[in-house]
Amino acid sequence: MPQIVTKHRVLVTTSVLLISLAAFSVHGQEAKQLYEQTCATCHGTHGKGDGPTGQMLQPKPADFTTALRGKDVAYLTKVIREGGPSVGKSPLMPTFQGVLSDKQIQDLIQYVKGFVSP
Ligand code: HEC
Repeated sequence: MPQIVTKHRVLVTTSVLLISLAAFSVHGQEAKQLYEQTCATCHGTHGKGDGPTGQMLQPKPADFTTALRGKDVAYLTKVIREGGPSVGKSPLMPTFQGVLSDKQIQDLIQYVKGFVSP
């Protein structure tokens, strides 16, 4: 009898571990997917401003690898939530208020910050 209990406990521990690992990878994956679905058409898959729509815009979206250097989370939150004009940029940068949740915006900020070259 006690042996069965132990086995059961191991099984539960293993599945809890697996579930948290899955949640972790989904998290990173989600921001990437969200970026690719929502932003990449203008900003490009690698943030260089060379997405298929971005190439047709005037002004073109800035290259994130250099443009985001030194920009803080408050600024990035504002431009993504309220659109380009809120920070003096092009109105072609849409507003995502009501489209993306605050959490999604914060995830995207961490994701786009990853494009910045040191
Ligand atoms: C319809 C095209 C378009 C889409 C879609 C778009 N953007 Fe933009 N974005 C622009 C343009 C144009 C600008 C203004 C030019 C520039 O990059 O400075 C801009 C500016 C920005 C800036 C400010 C860059 C800077 O130099 O300060 C950030 C940050 C940004 N976009 C993030 C995003 C994120 C994140 C998404 C997806 C949720 C997104 N954009 C979707 C076109 C777009």
